[in-house]
Amino acid sequence: MKTDDVRRDIPLLNEVIYLDAASTTPTPRPVVEAMCDYFYNYNSNTGRGAYRLAIKATRELDNAREIIAKFIKSDPDEIIFTKNTTEAINIVAHGIEFQKGENIVVPNIEHHSNLVPWLNLQSQGVEVRIAKADNNGVVHPETVENLVDKNTRLVSVTHVSNSIGSVQPVDELSEIAQDNGALYLVDAAQSAGHMEVDVNKLGADFVVFPGHKGLLGPVGTGFLYCAHDSYGELEPLNLGGGTVEDVTEEDFKLTEAPSCFEGGTQNIAGFIGLGAAITYLKKIGISEVEKHTRKLTKIMYKEIQEIETVRVYGSPENIYGIVSFNIDNINPHDLAKILDELKSICVRSGYHCAIPSIKHIGAYQLGGTVRASIHYYNTREEIHELGETLKKISEFMG
Ligand code: ALA
Repeated sequence: MKTDDVRRDIPLLNEVIYLDAASTTPTPRPVVEAMCDYFYNYNSNTGRGAYRLAIKATRELDNAREIIAKFIKSDPDEIIFTKNTTEAINIVAHGIEFQKGENIVVPNIEHHSNLVPWLNLQSQGVEVRIAKADNNGVVHPETVENLVDKNTRLVSVTHVSNSIGSVQPVDELSEIAQDNGALYLVDAAQSAGHMEVDVNKLGADFVVFPGHKGLLGPVGTGFLYCAHDSYGELEPLNLGGGTVEDVTEEDFKLTEAPSCFEGGTQNIAGFIGLGAAITYLKKIGISEVEKHTRKLTKIMYKEIQEIETVRVYGSPENIYGIVSFNIDNINPHDLAKILDELKSICVRSGYHCAIPSIKHIGAYQLGGTVRASIHYYNTREEIHELGETLKKISEFMG
């Protein structure tokens, strides 16, 4: 499937220039149709009913889990359904029984979702050690190596920074975590669906994913990959229907993972949609997505960098899918509004839920940055339109 084929499946793209994939991606028609099929034809709960509708819904949800698992090269029972990436990280943060004196190593360019849950553990006597990125937003393995010790319980790192777009050396960091006997979590919020994410190659205990960004699934879906061997580290906390094998008036026996982590009714339509989205993505081919994204990212960086009054963050050699920038004398929110009003260009502006990262790149006092982020449906022409519009705004403000 070519970019034009995908654009035909997303009518919204005729109305706007959508450059906010890092927030969420528009949903292609086959994904919406898979969800409509559920709502119209077999809307029922899963894992509970003996009637045909319920059995069909259960099968479709199991099928979605298998599609998701295969895509990241895991087993289906290593996939825990969540409502978003944040919830997936919180399942880990609350599920590990951290001991006083243990530490967690985490970079300073993280999304709040991969920082606040760890900072929150400080009240239990857990130390949070911050690994400082370089000026381009890359965390060097030596920095992490200098911070880990025998008390490091977890190293938690983003694959691609949501505020800068910088790609982190996740393979080297994995080795450091392993060599030091620490658990390893990778936040794949900005990489899954944009590039190949193979959980085996990452060598991570936990990988957290959104369904609604790179994977082109609906909002309200995310998942936690937990390696078989690492399930023993996690206590399930959201207990209730679906999480137990047996219950008496005095006690209960938990069922197997992942069910024991998935209390209550799931977002059934959402995950069936996510299964359809991954099938769709496979038709495009993840290597095609990657090729397209690499090429457009470089073009976008160059077009923006050429503007005289612009400041672009990150290095063109290292960023992927995201370009973060400012234009002199314009607040990022104002710039985003002007882009929308002039050319219906949708970009995110502000701190991007990553205040320490924005402070690190020196953009806090400027009100953050403007962030343009792409996927396979974006075109060279759209990027050029962004560049030209920014140039005009910059000249006007000049
Ligand atoms: N985490 C999403 C972003 O970075 C919402 O924009």
